[in-house]
Amino acid sequence: MTKAKVAVLISGRGSNMAALLYAAKAPDCPYEIVLVAANDPLAPGLTLAAAEGIAIFGHSHKGHKRAEFDQIIHAQLQKAGAHYVALAGYMRLLSPEFVGAWENRMLNIHPSLLPKYKGLDTHQRAIDAGDTHAGCSVHIVTAELDDGPVLGQTPVVILPGDTPDTLASRILIAEHQLYARTLADFVTRERQPDWLLNRVREAALALPQADETLSHGMPCFGIVKGKKFAYVSRDHHGDGIIGLLVKTTAPEEQAMLIDRDPARYYRPSYFGNDWVGIRLDIDDTDWDQITDRLRASWRQVAPKKLLGLMDVAEEF
Ligand code: GAR
Repeated sequence: MTKAKVAVLISGRGSNMAALLYAAKAPDCPYEIVLVAANDPLAPGLTLAAAEGIAIFGHSHKGHKRAEFDQIIHAQLQKAGAHYVALAGYMRLLSPEFVGAWENRMLNIHPSLLPKYKGLDTHQRAIDAGDTHAGCSVHIVTAELDDGPVLGQTPVVILPGDTPDTLASRILIAEHQLYARTLADFVTRERQPDWLLNRVREAALALPQADETLSHGMPCFGIVKGKKFAYVSRDHHGDGIIGLLVKTTAPEEQAMLIDRDPARYYRPSYFGNDWVGIRLDIDDTDWDQITDRLRASWRQVAPKKLLGLMDVAEEF
């Protein structure tokens, strides 16, 4: 199993970062930490990460415009080969450009049961409100502060006499467990057969006159009452692969693609030379490229009339 590459952004202590780092030491953990970065070069979490042999980057945001600083961090994340970002006590508002660049790839942990108590002073606000429980949430980061889809939550009881500090330290225990587990689920969801099929389905059925059927147990997509242009293959003839089979656009293309990227492209058994398999169960699937491949494959089998309509539509 290849491990998903995660970068963690912190601002200070970094105990959630440490929880992720130590969870990642388990042999079956589906992610590895490739970088810990902070907007404060003196953040204590950086010292720990470095001592644990993790690459670090510390740079003060002071004197930089928000988007400019985010671009510095973004460049470091890319250099480290990160595929996901985990915000762990990263006390910075993010620029829309940065959020956009990491759309659906960036998580945050927040010490409240969202949607309650976004922002700061969450523990005090929960106590003042007389809540029976406070807690923590892990969510996908979107443009609005502490607002993206919640992936997991842990309620934590508020005890009589709790102060914001006593409550915070109890919630922190829950945070450490919740974050490691939720991140593991998140990075593996894109390898789940159903998630992959749904993603292909969305792109394939968006093409004109496309429909879905089953052929030899494989979900496949074709033109209504016409030919097939894509198959989603799962352990086809015991090959252990989840892949997308599409038609190539030229006879040499299959060999050329496999030659160029043999880890991703393959020759699907029983499909001849004018189809190519694209593995979906390895990291870094470029879904824009998959969408383009589906469209190109659709074009190979579409009747002339439909092709003409597509050409007109694509001109606009
Ligand atoms: C954590 O409690 C985290 O939930 C919170 O900051 C603390 C960081 O601690 N984050 C937020 O309030 C974000 N809105 P840590 O540095 O020890 O992980």
